[in-house]
Amino acid sequence: MVKYTMFDPQAYIQDFPILQRKIHGDKRLIYLDNAATSQKPQQVLDTITEYYTQHNANVHRGIHQLGDESTKIFHAARKTIATFFGTDPQEFVVVRNTTEAINQVAYTWGEEYLTAGDVILISEMEHHSNIVPWQELAHRKHAQLAYLDVDQMGRLSLDQLRIQIKTYGNKLKLVALTHVSNAIGTLNPIKEVVEIIHADSPETQVLVDGAQAAPHLAIDFHRLNVDFYVVSAHKMLGPMGMGGLFIRRDLLKKMKPFLFGGGMINEVTKEKTTFAEDLEERFTAGTPDVAGLAGWAAACEYLGKMGMHTLQEYDQTLVEHALRRLREIPQIKIVGPLSATQRVGSVAFLYKGVHAHDVGQILDSEGIAVRSGHHCTMPLHTKFEWQATVRASFQLYNTSEDIDALIEGLKKVQKVFGQ
Ligand SMILES: Cc1ncc(COP(=O)(O)O)c(C=O)c1O
Repeated sequence: MVKYTMFDPQAYIQDFPILQRKIHGDKRLIYLDNAATSQKPQQVLDTITEYYTQHNANVHRGIHQLGDESTKIFHAARKTIATFFGTDPQEFVVVRNTTEAINQVAYTWGEEYLTAGDVILISEMEHHSNIVPWQELAHRKHAQLAYLDVDQMGRLSLDQLRIQIKTYGNKLKLVALTHVSNAIGTLNPIKEVVEIIHADSPETQVLVDGAQAAPHLAIDFHRLNVDFYVVSAHKMLGPMGMGGLFIRRDLLKKMKPFLFGGGMINEVTKEKTTFAEDLEERFTAGTPDVAGLAGWAAACEYLGKMGMHTLQEYDQTLVEHALRRLREIPQIKIVGPLSATQRVGSVAFLYKGVHAHDVGQILDSEGIAVRSGHHCTMPLHTKFEWQATVRASFQLYNTSEDIDALIEGLKKVQKVFGQ
């Protein structure tokens, strides 16, 4: 049963200048491609502009007022973002996006701790960003990449997980799973997954891909009790080119830096270098993107003001409305869980007899932006023999009217294709 919230998106829509745009002549923009990237509120845009117009200077290096201001903005932003995710700056490595975060874990932790014959376990619903880095690492290390199945309803089986843990024993070094599927919307029970892994295989590390969870759920890194949690700012109202790799402090302390150079050292001689003790410094090589970090922090503050629990409830109302209205069209087959409570942020579907790209194009002509294709989940699409699916994905500025417009757009597909 979905709870209805008091959240009123109308109070926030005007914060997003791009939503005032008309497209294809005079069509209102109905943006339902938020899982790919979200739009940015004026507060985030202003923060970035203010940094460059008022404070721009390199951090840590200048003994002058602007350098000092920039350094303060940098540290304050890191703190705001880390706090938003239930941790602190000593466990937060800044990266460009989720993809880079996962690659960094593969190249640092993976290179150091994985040996021939070890096993990395992922699921069939992973985004390519949580598949390819592990395939490459497994090739380099002669390790095995194993998969957890996804059932017909788009769910992972915890019983199969238990069996795999027993089968692989102490060879199982890493389980890397998405928190929320970008392709079928499934909300995975990460807390339960972690409890099972810790009970039967306490040495196994757990990485969670939070790219689709962070925009909609309250994430508490420590309560989830995982080793690595990775996110992208651009999907949660922040700027592109910013991401987070949250790592348990004791693990990070043992890890070698990935990038070497200025800013992360203690002492450099011609022959050798010692690295900064402070973890924030040790894992920040080179000039950071201070404006980007400040913009991301502004996005966290914006979301935090509404409260992630409120936003999650609101998202549930949108998902439930979309599921209900899509069922009215007989040509549509929804993929993934059929209950809103098992989903977050999106609904994807097939349109019988019409290619997803044609559906997307007709919707676009009506001002409705959705995504069609394999959504970077080719193994999942191959398994279910879906050529391509159409995905509508939501953010706090979407309304039930946007979903009703999607349904009207889909009725146009019926007219055009006579299906
Ligand atoms: C679940 C998931 N993981 C990883 C990514 C990769 O994110 P990025 O392109 O920001 O690195 C995405 C992007 O859509 C995603 O949805």
